[in-house]
Amino acid sequence: MVRIAIDGPGGAGKSSVAKAVARELGIIYVDTGALYRTIAYHMVLSGIDPKDAESVAAELDKFTLELKFVDGKQIILLDGVDVGDNIRTPEMSMAASAVSAIKEVREYLLNTQRNIARNNSVIMDGRDIGTVILPYAEVKIFLTASPEARAKRRYEELIAQGQVVTYDQVYNEMVERDKNDSTRAIAPCVQAKDAILLDNSKLTPNETVAAVIKIVKKNEKSLYMKLHAWLPPIIRFFQRIKRTGLENVPADKGYVICSNHIAARDVILIGAAYPSQIRFVAKKELFSVPILGWLIKKLGAIKLDRGGGDVAAIKTSVNLARAGHSVAIFPQGHRNPGVNPANTPTKNGAALIAYKSQSDVLPVFIKTKNHKYAFLRKKEIIFGKPIPYSELGFKNGGGEEYEAATKIIFDRILELGGCKKDDAEKEIKD
Ligand code: DC
Repeated sequence: MVRIAIDGPGGAGKSSVAKAVARELGIIYVDTGALYRTIAYHMVLSGIDPKDAESVAAELDKFTLELKFVDGKQIILLDGVDVGDNIRTPEMSMAASAVSAIKEVREYLLNTQRNIARNNSVIMDGRDIGTVILPYAEVKIFLTASPEARAKRRYEELIAQGQVVTYDQVYNEMVERDKNDSTRAIAPCVQAKDAILLDNSKLTPNETVAAVIKIVKKNEKSLYMKLHAWLPPIIRFFQRIKRTGLENVPADKGYVICSNHIAARDVILIGAAYPSQIRFVAKKELFSVPILGWLIKKLGAIKLDRGGGDVAAIKTSVNLARAGHSVAIFPQGHRNPGVNPANTPTKNGAALIAYKSQSDVLPVFIKTKNHKYAFLRKKEIIFGKPIPYSELGFKNGGGEEYEAATKIIFDRILELGGCKKDDAEKEIKD
């Protein structure tokens, strides 16, 4: 799966570029601005001032909004009716900008946007895709151009559609909308720290598409193909990893991956054994450890730099899982070298993440002699059958449910490793 975020101000050509890239890569193009436009359209039709936050928020449960893809084309149904081009007028542009500054509107649309990216490879355009909606997108581009260049393009577009406007009108509205969108308090239109800036003031549409495809290919390749083609096999070879149960892991689906926890290197071994990318949440300090730090970064670890507490780690993992990434977490919470996992306590973090992200869980067992690592000793990584979310027994969440789900998950892990509680006495000191 690949998620590409294209953000930037109106008129930069995001949608035509994104459409062309989607066609080229055979993925879905999601125009998120159209969602805000549809909400604005409903408000205008209902006689509600799009700037009146209270009335707009109160109206949000009074209509249905559905997003569909027919032959790769996005269609929005408002109360079951296709909104078509009714949302494309200058009036709707201004109204969309107004409703998009309302917190409740953004919350209302958050999951709609994330859910599409969770189940599909997408290129999504908007204002806050790289910063808020898909903060872990594999490729992020901030596409912009001078206000004059953007106003000229928008003006020509509107004239071609047969709308009656002047260039000055379009320019002034664009500048006003830029200001609204980039200075609003929530999810303003800003370049994500890790986004690539592309100014296309002097580029033709075709040149812009070519530039974006080049960026996508380069970034997508370095993260997925290139690295995943050579690094994991090398690790598997030198670490003498045998993989079992790979048939249980269908590609292109995100799981909460749960395994027994022996030592810090578990993350590298599982990362190298898993057929696609896993996102690990690791403490900031681990990134400064020589070799290990480099490896976990290359294998897709997310740096936890906000104090590094459990809560922050869980929150980050939930967001990753919600966005369709596979995340790995250890129900034991701590490393347990040399200890039969059947005799260790568990924590409920993994269950909590599965609940909050509504993810299936993939149980994994790392099998080593006496639950310890030795560099030259064989390690077996066993992948179990995924546990569907519906079998984790969640209803409303809460401590007891997490406890029960943790037991289901951990029992499956122990089962994979053939670990039983009374095995403890039989353990031989290494
Ligand atoms: O991209 P557009 O012109 O169709 O967007 C219409 C308005 O919606 C724009 O003024 C800002 C808002 N918007 C947003 O706030 N966040 C997005 N992800 C997309 C659009």
